[in-house]
Amino acid sequence: MAGATNSRILVTGALGQIGTELVEALRALHGADAVVASDVRDIPDHPCVVGGPYRHLSVIDADAFDEVVTEESIGTVYHLAAILSATGEKNPELCERINVGGTVTVLEAARKHGLRVYAPSSIAVFGPDAPKHAPQVCPLNPTTMYGKTKVTGERLAMNYWKQYGVDVRGIRYPGLISYKAPAGGGTTDYAVDIFHAALENGHYDCFVRSDTRLPMMYMEDAIRATIALMDAPVDSIGDARGGYNLSGCSFTAAEIADAVAARVPEFTCDFKPDVRQEYADSWPDSVDDSAAKQDWGWKAEYDLDALCDAMISGLQSSSI
Ligand SMILES: NC(=O)c1ccc[n+]([C@@H]2O[C@H](COP(=O)([O-])OP(=O)(O)OC[C@H]3O[C@@H](n4cnc5c(N)ncnc54)[C@H](O)[C@@H]3O)[C@@H](O)[C@H]2O)c1
Repeated sequence: MAGATNSRILVTGALGQIGTELVEALRALHGADAVVASDVRDIPDHPCVVGGPYRHLSVIDADAFDEVVTEESIGTVYHLAAILSATGEKNPELCERINVGGTVTVLEAARKHGLRVYAPSSIAVFGPDAPKHAPQVCPLNPTTMYGKTKVTGERLAMNYWKQYGVDVRGIRYPGLISYKAPAGGGTTDYAVDIFHAALENGHYDCFVRSDTRLPMMYMEDAIRATIALMDAPVDSIGDARGGYNLSGCSFTAAEIADAVAARVPEFTCDFKPDVRQEYADSWPDSVDDSAAKQDWGWKAEYDLDALCDAMISGLQSSSI
């Protein structure tokens, strides 16, 4: 393996929900020029494009990926490019091609160029046979293609670490709630959409049942966790390196609707489950994140009330 002498950071899928905020946070820490944003989409006025270096890059084009790594002197990749659960189940072949194919591109480049890699996983790795309070280690039998691609990603991460010493780390993100970029076609999008609908129309038709409970997290916590995991010394990272469970807060769809109604007068919500209910039902209600706490000191800061307050004030101030 080549030595990791290059120090710039590449973020794939940078124009998505997480990338928009991760690029901003990494640029604040390391300087704008040190962080190269990339995506297969071109959005000229996107903050990640305007705020620093940007490359058009598809993660399934291995030659182009190698070229960018060399030309931009990349030492670390935050690999966020993916097709999410709801979109992925509509087009499972595309989901597998981008999620597994893209991860292989990044890991192969990491092996050749000595890169460190962050490659996120998801609570979608768990299937209906997992305990509803999901432990770090249990059989992973997801029913969705998206979940299967994430299990493969975790296995690839472990293999590249064991066989080639590639330092790959990941988090099994819960549903992430944020206001700076739209949610990207996942099953937990209702917990983001409800805020936009409440402020724009005073009403939301929620696509899961009111008693649906899923693990969720405010984006600020997720970004802090991502950077903390990548900053942790290598000898503190244990067997969960491919996908650490990470707990933020866990609530039902009715509970978030009530929390929004307490802050937006006259808000109403109806529950009209669609096919995404099936995906939600196959996932845990909450996760045990003691490995993340023990290995790199993880602690969530936002509970349901704090994230509701942050979402509403964030959306109100961004629409001024
Ligand atoms: N947002 C969540 O709630 C959540 C939860 C669990 C896991 N994750 C994981 O976190 C990562 C980022 O998720 P996100 O919410 O930001 O997703 P997103 O859908 O908002 O963004 C993904 C980005 O990847 C880009 N992309 C798609 N195909 C590409 C390709 N071939 N080459 C380069 N870019 C491509 C898209 O244009 C998009 O900008 C994904 O791996 C996702 O599975 C997200």
